[in-house]
Order: sequence, then C-alpha cells, then structure tokens
Amino acid sequence: MSEAHLLKQALRAVLSGQQRAAADPHRPAWHLAPPVGLMNDPNGFIHFNQRFVLCYQWNPLACAHGAKFWGQWSSQDLVNWRHEPLALAPSEPYESHGCYSGSAVDNQGVMTLLYTGNVKFDDGSRTAWQCLATRDEHGEFHKSGPVLALPEGYTGHVRDPKVWQHNGLWYMVLGAQNLELQGKVLLFSSPDLHQWISLGEIAGSHLNGLGDFGYMWECPDLFELDGRSVLVVCPQGLKADTWRWRNTFQSGYFCGSFDYANHRFDHGEFHELDLGFEFYAPQTCLSDDGRRLMIGWMGIPDGDEFYQPTRVNGWMHTMTCPRELILRGDRLFQHPARELQQLRGQESRFAGVARSLPTLAIDSAELELSIDGSCELNFADTLRLTVHPEGVTLLRNNLRSGEPENRDWRGEVSLLRILCDRSSIEIFINEGEAVMSSRYFPASTPTVSFDGIGQIGLSHWSLQQCV
Ligand code: FRU
Repeated sequence: MSEAHLLKQALRAVLSGQQRAAADPHRPAWHLAPPVGLMNDPNGFIHFNQRFVLCYQWNPLACAHGAKFWGQWSSQDLVNWRHEPLALAPSEPYESHGCYSGSAVDNQGVMTLLYTGNVKFDDGSRTAWQCLATRDEHGEFHKSGPVLALPEGYTGHVRDPKVWQHNGLWYMVLGAQNLELQGKVLLFSSPDLHQWISLGEIAGSHLNGLGDFGYMWECPDLFELDGRSVLVVCPQGLKADTWRWRNTFQSGYFCGSFDYANHRFDHGEFHELDLGFEFYAPQTCLSDDGRRLMIGWMGIPDGDEFYQPTRVNGWMHTMTCPRELILRGDRLFQHPARELQQLRGQESRFAGVARSLPTLAIDSAELELSIDGSCELNFADTLRLTVHPEGVTLLRNNLRSGEPENRDWRGEVSLLRILCDRSSIEIFINEGEAVMSSRYFPASTPTVSFDGIGQIGLSHWSLQQCV
C-alpha cells in the first residue's frame, strides 16, 4: 500500500478515535500510551540533539497486532513528551507486514534508524530484511531500504537490530531462530551502517553453557555498564518454574564480558528484569550524562492482553516509566529516572502498624514505604501485594479466565517504592533490587488500603498529570 494511503488511514484513525481514548478512566496520567490502537515495543530510543526520542511499535488502525508502524515521541526531560509525526509506515514490499522493532544511532549528526522489514507469505512462512532510514533536518524520515537479507541457516524470524559504535566500527545484534528452532543472538559489524558482515552467534539456546533455552530470542540489546557487558534479551519458550518465568514470555539479561577481538560473550545466568505480570521488549539508551536508561513495554504478547478493557475505547498498552540501570555485582538494579520526581506534589507522611494506616488515593501517585514485618497492600480490590517473611507476592485475576494468579519475589524486603498511574503499578523493591510491573483495571478511582501488623513508615505524593 502506498505511504500516502497508509498515512491517511492512520490520520483518520487518530482523528476519529483519540477523544474517546483520552477520556478512558484507565488512560495514564503520565505514562506513554498510544493515541489510538495497539502499541508494543519501544524502538529507536536515543538521546539526540538535546532531546530524547522514543519511537514505538504501533498499529494505529486496530487494537490488534498487525502491520506495524513506528510512532514517535520526543522529550527534553523524560517527563514531558510530545507526540511527533509518524516515523515509519509499512509501505514497501520489503516491509509489507510491518516495520518491526529496531534502534536509532547518531551517525555524524544524522539520526539513523535500523529496523526489521517483516514480510509474510501465503504459506505461513516469512522473511525479514534489516532496513535503514535516516531523518533529515525537518524531521522527515527517508528509507534507504534493506541493508541485510536473511542470513543463511535461520528461519524468517531474524529481527530487532540494536546498533552501536565501538572504536570506529558499527556493531549490530539481532534476535534470531535457527533452523533447529533454537533462539540465538547474532552479531554483525559494518564500517558505514550499509555493508554488514556476519561475526557469528554470541549467545543463545545451546551456547555458552546454556542448554535448551527457548525457540526464539527477541529484542537483544548489548551494552557496557560499569566495565561489564550486559545483554538484555527476550528468550521465548522458557518453561515456567515455581518462582521464575511465569509470564508467557520472559525478558531478562545476562551479565558478562564481551570480547571485541574474538566476538565472544562470556556470561553468567539469565535474570528476569521484572517479575510482574506485564513487562517485555525493553530498550536502553545512553543519556548525555552517562546514565543507561531503559523503557519497557508494559505488556506481554499472547497473554490475556486482548481482555484489557481499554480495547473497547480503542487503545491498548502503555510503556513503563523510564528507569535508570545500575550494576551491583552481576545484578542490575533499576530506579525510576530521577527526572520523575518533578511530578511530585506535596508529601504526606504516615507511620505505624500497617493496619492503622489510612486509605490513600493512588490515581496518579508515588508511595515510599520502609517496612519491618508483614503487611498487605490492597490496590482498588483488584491487585494485592503481600509482604511476608519469604518475600513479596503480587496477586491479580487473569483477565481472560478470572482465575487468581500470583507473581513472587523471594528475599528480605525493607523498602518499597511504588509508582501508580490509573491502570498501572510499578513496584521497586529494596532500591531496585527487583521490580514488579503490572496493569490493573480498577472499577472506580483507585485507592490503596493497608493491613497487617508490620511497622511501616510511609511517604505519599500525588503525581501531576503530564501526557
Ligand atoms: C516483540 C516483537 C519483536 C518484533 C515486534 C513486532 O514484542 O515480537 O520481536 O519486532 O514485536 O511488533
């Protein structure tokens, strides 16, 4: 379909649907959500010319996965975002079934996108092209077309280029599935972002000491943090364990060291990034002041996502808040980006036994709790967080079946920082040692009530609306 036609369709969808979406009581006050339609992965996250740019996988035409566009926001401070013109529409034959996920780099002052052109065939098979587009000084994107075809030995599931520069060379990691249906991460290098040579597999199922570790790895992101190398990736096909890997698909990281001379990544264990009900396909960027920032999609593909009530109002999913990553040993700790403190209104403080604390408004709010003992936080009778001697349990009903489900973290809890925004909760445990992010859909303006005999010190801020 021609680009002009796709843009017209997208514009029509936004103009006819945005008021209804904006009036939805579940619409976030300060998290990013699509004006209409379905949003998934963050893409092209970059700090460029003093502004953060965050693109996203977007089907503006329906609350369904399908031919994906790249929507685009930008912000100076990670708090106030403005929606920018569409970055990419799937108009060309090499991207006929979607401009899939990818990243952005600064190539000598030119913002350049590398993304996957996804093409599906009638027999159910598919192919993938890694494609390039550049942004001109007026903010228009110009496609150069494919720069890399499907490498030999892999199925059509090769996608999600994350690109960076090191010692004058460009590097790219790709998520892939080989012909034995094992998930892999492929490495390529290029002098100019156009000619790419394969440097082999650097991680994956049946590699680097891992056994069977999933049939497809999506959205890899390899970066340096504090002298170590971290590979963030989404391996699909891990079987749920008692406390781990409970969502349909996982998103996590390996910490290790990447050897540029031999293209080897030696790494330790896989750790999940977020233990809540919704978190997937995160992407990181480096800010000008040297912080590694991460934003994830607060969604999971193929779960109970289509039972989310916002669908009736023509929009689905939000991003997580931007998070700062810090390495302690070989573990990532996550903090809400410090800029988010700008959203705070007046602080209210409370202290005492949990069950003596007042019920508080959490429509758009931040809570900070120091905890000594067991307690329970009941969010709008829809989501329940229990702090107990073994750790933390988060309970919610499955949106499809109505059956209660839980997610857990094991460890000693002393501090919780909780960000609430209408239909989402992000729980940061012990200074970001673990995080649990979840959507929930309260029937009326949400409040939190407390129970239990643990001693609590509590700060509460309401957070200002800003999207
Ligand atoms: C992850 C993912 C990516 C793909 C994109 C398509 O959620 O499946 O692998 O590029 O979504 O929207």
